[in-house]
Amino acid sequence: MSEAAEAKALSKTWFYPFRLPSGAVTPTYDGGALDAIHYTRRNMLDHALAALFPGERGDLRALDLACHQGYFACHLAQSGFGEVVGTDARVEHIEDARFMSGLLGLQERLRFLPMDVHEATPERLGGSFDLVLCFGLIYHLENPVGALRSARALTRRALLIETQLVPGLSGMVDYGSYRFVRPLKGSFGLIDETEETHGPEASTTGICLVPSREALLWILERLGFARIEILPPPEDAYEQLRFGKRIMVLAELSPPGGERLG
Ligand SMILES: C[S@@+](CC[C@H](N)C(=O)[O-])C[C@H]1O[C@@H](n2cnc3c(N)ncnc32)[C@H](O)[C@@H]1O
Repeated sequence: MSEAAEAKALSKTWFYPFRLPSGAVTPTYDGGALDAIHYTRRNMLDHALAALFPGERGDLRALDLACHQGYFACHLAQSGFGEVVGTDARVEHIEDARFMSGLLGLQERLRFLPMDVHEATPERLGGSFDLVLCFGLIYHLENPVGALRSARALTRRALLIETQLVPGLSGMVDYGSYRFVRPLKGSFGLIDETEETHGPEASTTGICLVPSREALLWILERLGFARIEILPPPEDAYEQLRFGKRIMVLAELSPPGGERLG
């Protein structure tokens, strides 16, 4: 790609600090105030990739659900995945992601498609994926369990979820009668984004159900993941990940041969 394309990239403010072929880095929102969350998550992703897929990755497929401008999808392609697909509900993000993948010379192994997460199926995306990313999405949804079901159906080996959490409730509930008492398995917090649906990072419907830690882990277990692990944040992690207000969870289907990782 030309110098003109780099100049075009550098004239815009992005959600992500993309490193361009010249070494220049794209300007980001609020003078870089959010860069730390992206660097922390990329660092945690790299750590997980090293354990999950240590060898040659050319035969592997990866999917980035709600890819935004394609930062993590581009990173997966640069990390050796032979085929990477990114999907997002917002067409403007898909256009930015396509532009950026061209600028980074990744277009042969990287595709971006406009798609709501609830419409993402193996039939529409050419089968399942060795790795599925679901970063920064489920807490913007009114149907996070449905989205996790979609992610599960698309996963062949491992799903990595990164999400905001709410504090949980626990205890026993009289479920219709004091004679039928059930334990809470977790809880959801309801967040109003109805005034922000125009925002590039926001919900498309405005009604957001944010899971508690226990709720997310229990749902992943119910969806059939064999091994579920909260990944430790690095020492210098972005504050939300450092203090457990957001977490990254690795959910694996049975690894080949049934062995456990790390
Ligand atoms: C906070 S951003 C996170 C982007 C990226 N995954 C990351 O973690 O950096 C939320 C993204 O979810 C997308 N999104 C919101 N609702 C969606 C839906 N129902 N289906 C697919 N994408 C959605 C938004 O357009 C936006 O790109």
